[in-house]
Amino acid sequence: MSQAQYDYDIVRSFVNWSILWGVVAVLVGVIVSFQMVEPGLNFPPYLTFGRLRPIHTNAGIYGWGVGVIFATFLYIVQRLCKTPLWSPRLARFQLWFFNATIIASAVTLLLGYTTSKEYHEMEWPIDVMIVILWVAFAINIIMTIIKRREEHMYISLWYMMASLVGVAILFLVNSAAMPVSLFKSYSAYAGTNDANVHWWFGHNAVAMALTAPPLAMFYYFLPKSTGVPIYSHRLSIIAFWSLLFMYLWTGAHHLLWTPVPDWIQTLAMAFSVMLIAPSWGSVFNGYLSMNGQWHQMRENYLVKFLILGITFYGLQTLQGPMQAVRTFSAFIHYTDWVPAHIHMGTMGWVSMISFASIYFLIPRVYGRQLYSIPLANMQFWLILVGQLIWSFSLWIAGVLQAGMWNAMNPDGSLTYTFMETMVEMYPYWWIRAIGGLIYFAGVIVFIYNLVMTVRQGEPFSVEAAAAEGRA
Ligand code: HEM
Ligand code: HEM
Repeated sequence: MSQAQYDYDIVRSFVNWSILWGVVAVLVGVIVSFQMVEPGLNFPPYLTFGRLRPIHTNAGIYGWGVGVIFATFLYIVQRLCKTPLWSPRLARFQLWFFNATIIASAVTLLLGYTTSKEYHEMEWPIDVMIVILWVAFAINIIMTIIKRREEHMYISLWYMMASLVGVAILFLVNSAAMPVSLFKSYSAYAGTNDANVHWWFGHNAVAMALTAPPLAMFYYFLPKSTGVPIYSHRLSIIAFWSLLFMYLWTGAHHLLWTPVPDWIQTLAMAFSVMLIAPSWGSVFNGYLSMNGQWHQMRENYLVKFLILGITFYGLQTLQGPMQAVRTFSAFIHYTDWVPAHIHMGTMGWVSMISFASIYFLIPRVYGRQLYSIPLANMQFWLILVGQLIWSFSLWIAGVLQAGMWNAMNPDGSLTYTFMETMVEMYPYWWIRAIGGLIYFAGVIVFIYNLVMTVRQGEPFSVEAAAAEGRA
């Protein structure tokens, strides 16, 4: 099929918008890190840590994370199915509705409207918008798969379909609520049940938005970047089905030592530990695909991002199960250890894969070669160092915090007051903020490189890349 028949315009638009929301997310992340060390940077009522933090998390997961999912899935589905999109008009509608939803979310959160459920803070009218958005996206992807010209369904398509169905089920169940006004609703579930349903949603949002889609991208873009196929299709399929089976039981690991029934906690703990196997199935598949190709880590900047990304996924999926064990959870829960875990996943795994995917897409959708590979390498180091500083400072802070909270005098009283433990956090929070700034600098270099690519890049032949199997 000729390259001209594919719909790359929409991919281009989604790439651009996801980058914009990514910058907002990271910038607000940097601002809230400084607000934690300099309280004078809070400007009530709107620009306070409490209002900006959910804007950071939602812009990060839904603006940047989901924006990249839209961009990459709309590209990958056409390539793997060897057919143009089922409906380019529906995809256009999806683009503008996506931006409208993100803007509506940011404005209402700034104004203080919130359900107070983490990662599901938006009030019910925005939930309705999210459902319309996701249905539009899902229909287009599924219809394109149905009319495909390639019989074989590559693993990325399986992860994409899981994400489409998974997000829909989780979101609908967790959204059940009784509206009492345009901006206020009450959850359909009460007390412990509410918490249980919410964290079933919460952790599976990690599975269906922050794990399955980056895996779909990784499995697609790694072989396209190295020029050699993945090590084992069979292993990828086994890891896929076992990952889906095991994730759905793990939500209650967020609720260890709470009134949630003991057996539910134990079940979540056991399944979380079992999750190591399917997660590492994909990590091994990635590493083994590099057999004889390791020299590309030095020569090919795309491979560097992808392999570091999957390495952080591997580390994340060892650390996660450890945290899900009751005794370890008793130590680190509520401490800064947890944001460190999260940011190794979001800044390391999800964002590294997203940057690589965008670097791969830009020449193909704009027809321009990357402006500067040295700048791409520089960005790699900035975001790697920034993220490591971020995570290490808070891992250390978390252990220190946990140690101080647990310290007891011989008479059984607590050795430290809560305020004393907070004061100890300051140096680590400063270091975290500086790590965030370094990461932000990496994002600026990334954007500069892309803008210069579009403006001044040498011509790139999509036909020639496709002929070599690199489109
Ligand atoms: C085998 C896979 C994983 C397991 C078993 C796991 C386990 C856990 C556990 C037990 C917690 C709760 C910590 C606490 O509050 O005490 C947690 C938090 C979290 N994890 Fe993971 N994790 C895994 C992979 C990932 C991945 C790949 C990401 C992607 C970025 C991720 C993102 C998060 C987030 C966002 C939270 C914070 C939720 C909150 O706000 O409380 N996790 N994880
Ligand atoms: C320079 C980059 C970043 C900085 C400086 C930053 C900073 C922060 C800060 C200060 C918090 C609040 C932590 C707390 O409550 O103690 C936070 C939370 C969070 N951020 Fe980021 N962040 C960055 C990148 C990202 C990205 C790219 C994503 C998503 C793709 C993300 C997702 C989250 C999530 C899910 C939380 C909630 C953590 C929790 O519940 O403990 N962050 N971030």
